[in-house]
Amino acid sequence: MSSFYPPRRTLMGPGPSDVHPRVSAAMARDTIGHLDPEFIRLMDEVKGLLQYAFQTKNPMTFPVSAPGSAGMECCFVNLVEAGDKVIVAQNGVFGGRMKENVERCGATPVMVEDAWGAPIDANKVEEALKANPDAKILAFVQAETSTGAESDTETLVRLAHDHDCLAIVDTVTALGGTPIKVDEWGIDAIYAGTQKCLSCVPGLSPISFNERALEVVRNRKTKVQSWFLDITLLTTYWGGEGKRAYHHTAPINTIYALHEALVLLQEEGLENAWARHRRNHNALRDGFEAMGLNFVVEEPHRLPQLNAVSVPEGIDEAAVRSKLLQDYNLEIGAGLGAMAGKIWRIGLMGYASNPKNVFLCLSAMDSVLTNMGAPITSGVAVARAKESYANADQVPVSA
Ligand SMILES: Cc1ncc(COP(=O)(O)O)c(C=O)c1O
Repeated sequence: MSSFYPPRRTLMGPGPSDVHPRVSAAMARDTIGHLDPEFIRLMDEVKGLLQYAFQTKNPMTFPVSAPGSAGMECCFVNLVEAGDKVIVAQNGVFGGRMKENVERCGATPVMVEDAWGAPIDANKVEEALKANPDAKILAFVQAETSTGAESDTETLVRLAHDHDCLAIVDTVTALGGTPIKVDEWGIDAIYAGTQKCLSCVPGLSPISFNERALEVVRNRKTKVQSWFLDITLLTTYWGGEGKRAYHHTAPINTIYALHEALVLLQEEGLENAWARHRRNHNALRDGFEAMGLNFVVEEPHRLPQLNAVSVPEGIDEAAVRSKLLQDYNLEIGAGLGAMAGKIWRIGLMGYASNPKNVFLCLSAMDSVLTNMGAPITSGVAVARAKESYANADQVPVSA
């Protein structure tokens, strides 16, 4: 055995995405203790920076020491008790995971299903809320990574509140790439991931609970079934102002990484980050459409950070991905579940959302598809993307 040196890839799949070099450098700094006064100072800064990213003043805003799935589980195990009814709006893979969580809490999911690739239909959600006045929570995914569709969180949260429900919102792929306004929209419990639009490594799940959600936790009849994710116990470590007691050994260096990623986000500014994701998406879209490739999601509901594109007739989608990886060190994603084999998922997330990657992806796809005999218009995509940047309101941001 010898040391492991990973290949240098460009990560344009559904996440993880390219890590910013400042984030990698921060991660390599000396490990200190999880109760060291300097680390505690850092934790307070991370909380403040996350409040900015989520646009909230919620004191209970911090990263769970595990990936996005743990943030999801943290929301469900704390807020859902056996016997509860939870409305889950599903339009892709991750809504299905919410259903699993509800069931594992001993509660009843009421499913509101939408087609994969479509956003969640607020009318259907309203009907379900009316038909289930005993429902306690509405849960949904803002940015469905399996399809690239974005749902209207503001409207869905308002509907939940109109029917006396809390709202749990998955923003794993949304945070940093597309607007999220926790306080303005009244989101009660939210979770995200670090490996998508934050330019950070995987392994943490930022969460935020508002007072209404914490009140529900305080009034539970039963203990939270997960010791590790019990938010009341986690408060001893992450809550309060500077007072910290041991709960678990935090992944110290990963928190350095998140801190640096959030500093980068603050330096750029949230609105600028959202605009950058949109600008790079527009250029990629114009290039792909000039080639003759079709997007899965209708324009107004498309996530700029996750581009789902249909595989042309007769093309082996896995062979294209292998070729891109082998010849260009470029990773793009496959379809999941019902969309496996039919689409590619191309991420433009965080540090990876930049013009250099847009041009690389367009020229590599053009070349690979042309060599495979795909029915595309060759040689026009890069020029069209350049035009898109030239016509954009602002000069392209080079990450
Ligand atoms: C929308 C959504 N929710 C939850 C998750 C789970 O996150 P993780 O893989 O970090 O556990 C993902 C991961 O891609 C996701 O895209």
